[in-house]
Amino acid sequence: MYLKQLHVHGLRNLKHIELSLSPQVNLFHGANGSGKTSLLEAIFLLGRGRSFRSRILNTVINTQEQVCTAYGLRESSGVSTPIGVSRGRQGDFLFKINGQQIAAASALAEALPLLLLNAEGFDLIGGGPQYRRRFIDWGVFHVEHNYRHLMQRYQRVLKQRNSLMRHDRIDEQVLAVWDAEFVELAQQIDCLRKVYLQELLPIVRKIACELSEDLGDVDYSVFPGWDETKDLSEVLLTDRPRDRHLKTTHHGPHRADLRIRIKKQNAADILSRGQLKILAISMQIAQGYLFNNKTGRSGLYLIDDLPAELDIKHRRQVCERLAVLGAQIFVTGVEREGLLNLWSDSANDMKLFHVEQGCIREDRYTG
Ligand SMILES: Nc1ncnc2c1ncn2[C@@H]1O[C@H](COP(=O)(O)OP(=O)(O)O)[C@@H](O)[C@H]1O
Ligand SMILES: [Mg+2]
Repeated sequence: MYLKQLHVHGLRNLKHIELSLSPQVNLFHGANGSGKTSLLEAIFLLGRGRSFRSRILNTVINTQEQVCTAYGLRESSGVSTPIGVSRGRQGDFLFKINGQQIAAASALAEALPLLLLNAEGFDLIGGGPQYRRRFIDWGVFHVEHNYRHLMQRYQRVLKQRNSLMRHDRIDEQVLAVWDAEFVELAQQIDCLRKVYLQELLPIVRKIACELSEDLGDVDYSVFPGWDETKDLSEVLLTDRPRDRHLKTTHHGPHRADLRIRIKKQNAADILSRGQLKILAISMQIAQGYLFNNKTGRSGLYLIDDLPAELDIKHRRQVCERLAVLGAQIFVTGVEREGLLNLWSDSANDMKLFHVEQGCIREDRYTG
């Protein structure tokens, strides 16, 4: 599965872009501020319905435009599917797949599974638990058909419960009904997450070890979001005074975390920044592998400024791993030669593009 064509209009400094892409490797070089990250942002918008740079999407729209649009032609098993996302200044969103308007961004994610590797991606190990929950959810969402529905139901019940916690008086019977459903959904979510992460771990280990031997004994365990030695319904009951006081639910899968260790120590505490990056990349490549194994499809990798993030040896290794995966890759960097040197023989279908002041043109190279 890959993007065959990409059109971008009015997104940051990209006013009017039309590209035919390689199914494998797409390299974008250009000076700082030329529009490389904006291009990845456009692809991300297409696959997620949001930006990875700002929560406020109006800043994404070109200052002289009213709307920004990303349109892509996805090719999968010989079938072309148009996907389009547009967003106007009034907050009006439009998501379309195959000409049909769709309501939820999750349908975009299903149609175009994306993995983003950028400087913030390294928060996966050192950042807050939300980064690791997002990582877990990406994986389970893409291999477990039921997960999206389960999470939607859970979010609804959590919202209801939190709203009850804000009332002065609580109807015990009503709360008991919500809590029972809450516990049931929480256990199902936890179970799917654990099965997924267990399956993922040996792949993470293998890739991490290939990239850096001392990362091979990486280990992790899942914190489900409550004290596992206790029954969740009991935990909810015991902690209810605090939940009511702070008007929110303190236990459940929305508080889950992944505890990542190296030699039994917290990875974020002992690894160097470079090692953290390699481990984070290994975990994301591993997700791509498992996704591929399970579904026969491969996701798209967006890699922002790879040369700035890793040394040359690791850059090459990462690229080789991705080439073996057969995934479509988009890599940006300032230096043209630096990017071209990443792929020696592993990529036989590669396109190079030059980004200059918001314009992008294909740049011929001799391979
Ligand atoms: N809403 C906007 N309208 C027009 N230009 C913008 C907007 N937002 C950002 N820019 C400009 O777009 C340019 C491209 O930024 P970016 O994609 O981050 O460049 P690169 O990744 O190549 O360094 C920057 O010069 C930035 O000032
Ligand atoms: Mg950039």
